[in-house]
Amino acid sequence: MRSEVLSAAARKNLFFSPDVLEIILSNSDPMAFTNTILATLSESAMFIEKKDIIDFIAGDSSIAPERAPAVPKNKRHSDMVVVPGTDITGDSTCEGKIADFAAYFKNRFFVLKRMIEKRRDFGASVSISRAVTLGREARIIGMIYEKKETKNGHTTLSVEDETGSCTVLISKDSPCSGEMFVNDEVVGISGKPSARGDLFIADKIFRPDVPAGRVWTPSDSVASVAFLSDIHVGSSTFLEKQWKNMIDWLKTNAYDMDIDYLILPGDVVDGIGIFPGQEEELRIADIYGQYEKLGEYIKEIPDHIRIALQPGNHDAVRLAEPQPALSKIFTKDFDSNVIMAGNPVNIEIEGRTLLSYHGKSIDDWVASVQKLNYDDPINVMREMLTRRHLSPMYGGKTAMAPEKKDYLVIEKVPDIFVSGHVHGAGKMDHRGVKIINASAWQSQTSYQKAHNFNPNPAIMPIVHLGTGTVTLKDFTK
Ligand SMILES: [Fe+2]
Ligand SMILES: [Fe+2]
Repeated sequence: MRSEVLSAAARKNLFFSPDVLEIILSNSDPMAFTNTILATLSESAMFIEKKDIIDFIAGDSSIAPERAPAVPKNKRHSDMVVVPGTDITGDSTCEGKIADFAAYFKNRFFVLKRMIEKRRDFGASVSISRAVTLGREARIIGMIYEKKETKNGHTTLSVEDETGSCTVLISKDSPCSGEMFVNDEVVGISGKPSARGDLFIADKIFRPDVPAGRVWTPSDSVASVAFLSDIHVGSSTFLEKQWKNMIDWLKTNAYDMDIDYLILPGDVVDGIGIFPGQEEELRIADIYGQYEKLGEYIKEIPDHIRIALQPGNHDAVRLAEPQPALSKIFTKDFDSNVIMAGNPVNIEIEGRTLLSYHGKSIDDWVASVQKLNYDDPINVMREMLTRRHLSPMYGGKTAMAPEKKDYLVIEKVPDIFVSGHVHGAGKMDHRGVKIINASAWQSQTSYQKAHNFNPNPAIMPIVHLGTGTVTLKDFTK
């Protein structure tokens, strides 16, 4: 076939470059494809290059080969979009009325309840009002609104569904005595009512979680996505030298390493008036100036890289989560290749789902669960995944806006789950989900020092979208 194609071209005084020949031979009917090319391109040049073929195919879809030409897969085609319905930007309806809160919690309850019911090992549940009168084993699903330790070492939970509430007893001798609970999470509970009917005695707890046995399935993507969280532009503790090293490294390596996507998960600037005495530690004391400087930094990032940016608690948007994207007032001078997203948000990159959440609720997780701490944000993030909720505890340090649906529910299991906020750097695989804490570009502030908070800055996590390999690239040196 190869010689037939070449001699047909030679008869027309045309020559194919080797990669053109490869494209032709990958077609289901190479001879017919050759004749079409020769009839169309014979006027244009003596040597037919790959670009001519690609232009030719793009120009007339009716004559496109059935099989795609042998263009390297996923090379620079920039496939990154915000998943509709996961970003509050432009969709906020909340006025903060009592009715808004009721609807918000109802939405949370029913979405998480459905997830628990879908678990293969859970089966059918009964309503709480019915379960307490049944006198036999049953499964219930409820939202926890209070937990207490008794003086004998047992735990009681007050749980509620749409029909009523009950007190669940977790005896210290029960198989589920080691379970950890947070307020306003939704759990499935198997157990039975006590003889007096005033308690529901639990023997097993079911959480929505990520399905067991799920794994990262490799794809043919060759690209990687990198993360730079908590840049804190404008702070006097911004790590300018390390940042410059990282930009130089990207300029030299990003194209060859196929680092085609970059995510900035919030606290992109240091902001103004975020904590007491902050003004003493600002190099740029003007919020517009901070975003302007960030815009300059972004311009230095190689042009082939698509960027998505979301706000954090230091940025100039409402604090209540979900947070909308930064206003154009601040970002008008940014490169056009930057996607402005809300917080949290799902972003689809080459078929992978990325959940990006700044991570403010880590403060509440650490405050309410003894075994969780700031030095290990990755385990906090795993607890979020297990409960399929980024910030269940209402009324803590994380302000929440009662929108018509709960944007902080993790509705779809992501392939990659990234947060920042605590300025730590780490990675973990939980049932195929790559969990990442994406460091910071700010050294320890006096506020952090006073709160015994030790950051791990100047590290850029990179995830390969095909293999799922996670690398933490260190720029501290
Ligand atoms: Fe931060
Ligand atoms: Fe933060």
